[in-house]
Amino acid sequence: MLWSNIIATCVVLAGVPSSLAYPGMGEQMAEIMRRQGDSGEFDSTEPLGDLITLPDSQLTPTGADIKKILTGQGTPQSTTTWTAPKLGSSACQKDTCCVWQYIVNDMVADFRGKSGRCTSWARRAVRLGFHDAGTWSKTTAAQGLPGGADGSLCSTDEINRADNNGLQDICQKVNGWYDNWTKKGYAVSRADIIQMGATVATVVCPLGPRIKSYVGRVDNAKAGPPNLLPGVDQSADALIALFRDKTIGPHSLTALVGAHTTSQQFFVNTTRAGDPQDSTPGVWDVLFYGQTLGTKPTPPRVFKFNSDIALSKHPQTAPEWQKFASAGGQQDWNEDFAAGYIRLSLLGVNNINKLTECTKVLPGGTPSFTPNDQSNVDKWLKTADQSATAKKISNALHAGESLLGWLINLINGILGGLKKAT
Ligand code: HEM
Repeated sequence: MLWSNIIATCVVLAGVPSSLAYPGMGEQMAEIMRRQGDSGEFDSTEPLGDLITLPDSQLTPTGADIKKILTGQGTPQSTTTWTAPKLGSSACQKDTCCVWQYIVNDMVADFRGKSGRCTSWARRAVRLGFHDAGTWSKTTAAQGLPGGADGSLCSTDEINRADNNGLQDICQKVNGWYDNWTKKGYAVSRADIIQMGATVATVVCPLGPRIKSYVGRVDNAKAGPPNLLPGVDQSADALIALFRDKTIGPHSLTALVGAHTTSQQFFVNTTRAGDPQDSTPGVWDVLFYGQTLGTKPTPPRVFKFNSDIALSKHPQTAPEWQKFASAGGQQDWNEDFAAGYIRLSLLGVNNINKLTECTKVLPGGTPSFTPNDQSNVDKWLKTADQSATAKKISNALHAGESLLGWLINLINGILGGLKKAT
């Protein structure tokens, strides 16, 4: 329903003749609805793929659960754990998820930094999951074009597109995992490795949600169509329209871009390569929302994307943005990110009903996290210096290292000499 219709309906329901509606009433109604929660129009509730046409009576338990999540009634996070049987044992062979435990163990080793923060591998893995799936849209799918969570990003020339700058290394890693496990005879797809990588990375980042994770996607050797990924200088209206065409409404979009809480940009402004998008790179917290809005103090080294600033102010995304930034926002955001990411990870997948849920192979989450080196991170953030010394600190954060130990000399000694931002 459009805002104008919602407001007109509310006016009628409230018994207010439309002649008595007054300027600014729309804003007040929007505020009332914001306080009451989600309006519906801005959420994502469309089923996807084979779930669009399959009758409920034919759904598997996993298919039914995914359908509930997609239609806004399910639970997108899970704490289920298990102890995996030994690789190669008959018990392991009988369980589709078993080999994934061993793949995930490899991923965790790369994704968790010594400081407890997640590493650049983890952040790239989350972005990779988005960029593989994000080549799908309702418009291009209706034209019979490929695209979606099909592994093509790492097996075709999609990876050479400018949109994907910075993802080449993680694709190589994905291809390494794929070659290693398929050579051993395990029938795993690149598409699943990419999407499992994203959900493993999310939960490895401290405070990140433990998103329900599925396997069984089918690879496609054809590249997805170009121009379906967002640009950092696009208007909020254009970004909202782009994501709507992927069945992702403004609320979900607001939740999904929160992944920038962990990131350090390299290509938007190359003179500021390594500068983070909030004061806590590698941590899955809601500080990004407050700092992008400007309601939380923002040190000079934090580099805000124009696209994030635009979304933080647009009437269709700002209310949710403010909710995530406010007290209690973390839990709300984690739930919305999890639901939004499940949707994203299933774009272009047409065998959803046959997928297997393997969330049990994910590591446990880190629901609270206080880095013991944040005061050193803060010293670095107060500077705008791009010297070799500042780069070493940025690289250490990128690798998830602690700014203690050998780096303490840099911090306490040389960092004192770094140029303060004016
Ligand atoms: C409005 C939509 C979006 C725009 C315009 C956008 C743009 C960007 C840009 C320009 C970068 C920096 C790349 C670089 O210079 O190194 C980036 C990084 C990143 N993005 Fe997005 N993005 C969007 C949505 C998303 C979504 C939906 C996700 C995931 C669900 C995501 C996850 C990430 C992550 C994790 C990074 C950090 C990657 C790293 O540290 O290597 N982004 N994004």
